[in-house]
Amino acid sequence: MKRLENRVAVITGGAKGLGQAMAEVFAKEGAIVVAADMGEMTYQCDHVHYMKLNVTDVQGVQTFFDEVVARFGKIDILVNNAGITKDAMTRKMTDDQWNAVIDVNLKGVFNLTRLVGPHMEANGYGSIINISSVVGVFGNIGQANYAATKAGVIGLTMTWAKEFARKGANVRVNAIAPGYIMTDILKTVPQELLDSFAKLTMIGRLGQPIEVANAALFLASEESSYITGQTLNVNGGMRL
Ligand SMILES: NC(=O)c1ccc[n+]([C@@H]2O[C@H](COP(=O)([O-])OP(=O)(O)OC[C@H]3O[C@@H](n4cnc5c(N)ncnc54)[C@H](O)[C@@H]3O)[C@@H](O)[C@H]2O)c1
Repeated sequence: MKRLENRVAVITGGAKGLGQAMAEVFAKEGAIVVAADMGEMTYQCDHVHYMKLNVTDVQGVQTFFDEVVARFGKIDILVNNAGITKDAMTRKMTDDQWNAVIDVNLKGVFNLTRLVGPHMEANGYGSIINISSVVGVFGNIGQANYAATKAGVIGLTMTWAKEFARKGANVRVNAIAPGYIMTDILKTVPQELLDSFAKLTMIGRLGQPIEVANAALFLASEESSYITGQTLNVNGGMRL
């Protein structure tokens, strides 16, 4: 028996990067996966269905949710993974930089989960995984907006773990806080900075998307049936 047999999973930001790695691993383990992304799909994989979604568009999120439930019957697993950076030192950060990151990384998570959480509660089953960051745990120079959102989703995680299980439903909510993982989101980070981040890990290197995807698979599956409200640090032992 595969670990996600008969499960329907929605992964936001599923068109590339960490979202792609999670979609491929979940599909391999038997799930039907909806890769929801405002960008174009960058890969093909059996049982991974691309659907266009901008998580900041409240009406679009409602339409998306209705379509997924109509097409696939239910949502068992939600990974809130879509995220962006717009870095600047606090004294130079513009309102646009602040608002854009809050809107995608924090409000976007809320927009979809306020529909999917109660849906899972009504179904009596679900696993929600919020993608935070090592930056949300330790803070980081030049990333006040991003750090605020990634710390914020840890607060949401603990709140929703309580809310959606309140009536006895088997709905678990956890976060993953990845360290620096080799995806496009790091494109703008200078190589010498990436090298210095690698030195801050205990393992001595940056991470690969599959290493986050395997942690997500664990939290999505019944192997983590007694784990909720937690943040799993997948960062090679990094301290910022
Ligand atoms: N790569 C890392 O080092 C790292 C570390 C910690 C946390 N994270 C987090 O992991 C998540 C995935 O990052 P990644 O590294 O794969 O980045 P990525 O840039 O490769 O992928 C992000 C995806 O999110 C999508 N997206 C952006 N805004 C969206 C929106 N409004 N609606 C729908 N989709 C949207 C993009 O189109 C893209 O496909 C992000 O939340 C990021 O903050 C990444």
